[in-house]
Amino acid sequence: MDCFSYKDGILFCEQVSLENIANEVGTPFYCYSSSHLKERFAAYKRGFGTKKHLVCFAVKSNSNLAVLNCLGSLGAGADIVSGGELYRVLKANIPAKRVVYSGVGKTRQEMEYALSEGIAMFNVESEQEMILLSEVAKKMGKKAPISFRVNPDVDAKTHPYISTGLKKNKFGLSMERAISAYEKAMKDPWLEITGIDCHIGSQIVEMAPFLDALRRLKKLVSRLTDMGICLSYIDLGGGLGISYSKETPPQPEEYISAIVNEAAELDQTIIVEPGRSICGNAGVLVTKVLYTKENGQKRFYIVDAGMNDLGRPSLYDAYHEIRTVRQTDKDKLAEADVVGPICETGDFLARSRPLPQLEQGSLIAVMSSGAYGFTMSSNYNSRPRVPEIMVYGDRFQVVRERETWQDLVKGESIPEEGC
Ligand code: LLP
Repeated sequence: MDCFSYKDGILFCEQVSLENIANEVGTPFYCYSSSHLKERFAAYKRGFGTKKHLVCFAVKSNSNLAVLNCLGSLGAGADIVSGGELYRVLKANIPAKRVVYSGVGKTRQEMEYALSEGIAMFNVESEQEMILLSEVAKKMGKKAPISFRVNPDVDAKTHPYISTGLKKNKFGLSMERAISAYEKAMKDPWLEITGIDCHIGSQIVEMAPFLDALRRLKKLVSRLTDMGICLSYIDLGGGLGISYSKETPPQPEEYISAIVNEAAELDQTIIVEPGRSICGNAGVLVTKVLYTKENGQKRFYIVDAGMNDLGRPSLYDAYHEIRTVRQTDKDKLAEADVVGPICETGDFLARSRPLPQLEQGSLIAVMSSGAYGFTMSSNYNSRPRVPEIMVYGDRFQVVRERETWQDLVKGESIPEEGC
């Protein structure tokens, strides 16, 4: 993570000191490096070379308008899973024709919205969804472009909660069912078959599962061609992992080159839907130590960010490196837990971690928090969500303000008649 490095003993994001940001906006806050985002996106583009492609950024990983706009201006499309995400994408000036719509539970209202905006493709995940989409298309007098999400039944060898390409997972259609779904869609005048899609999981750190899935998809594509179904898009989903600690995933360029190589004979446009591998290491969560205490053998640092701000450690027991914003002596480490203010034992950001001695007021950065950090945050314990900051070289901008206590009760009311 070169975009976060120490200069004169202080942790910087690009050329901006995190301490300066903390002094101006308070803590906690998320901070993103625009240059990291751009570089990771550029690496995807380089991997594709002259192969026809579309990189659809997975909005669920980081949906801040400034992030979307930054990537969109470089040519990114978007992979969305809800009407709300489409709304954000359009607000960020990403054209609808670069949008693919995934997800097992699209509603009628969301379908109408996406169809009227003219998205590139609905990644359909069930036959019932196909039937509803056709009904919506007929009512609107506008054909719906579709692909079916198939479940290639490959093991992505990642955390069970974020593995999606196995038969036992809720996503997509089995290869056999997909064929019959395509047959039905072919006969439907309101559906336009444009592609095929899969997504096998997230935080995948080896190439083999991706290539395995692509090989299985290719077989299906050739069966479909024999049936007279010609596709424009092959969507391979997202899932490339990042290094949180010692993982050594392929870099985006390597990963794409291997895919392009395996897809050499295909003339369809290749779509990928990366999220984490673009924004994960572009962001940190900066938080302040409120109190330190020792309970028996155990040392605790109680910080002002909790599981509602960054849920990954509690949800997946995920590891996020902790760095002090002021550089400290690495030789004097002692094991400690970094915990938040939420009333739950599961509210931790790091457990049993060798850390330098922290004091009340010390700032720490929870690294690799740019993906599934803010987007999964909540108001649990009536805690306002934290601001998001984007760094552009030597300047920074608040790209989402800190919520207020007033924001917390927005839309709520007490009935006049009381209870
Ligand atoms: N496409 C589809 C259809 C997806 O479901 C996902 C992620 C992506 C693309 C992007 O995957 P990525 O490139 O970011 O791995 N909250 C979990 C991750 C859940 C991923 C859900 N789907 C976490 O914090 O690790």
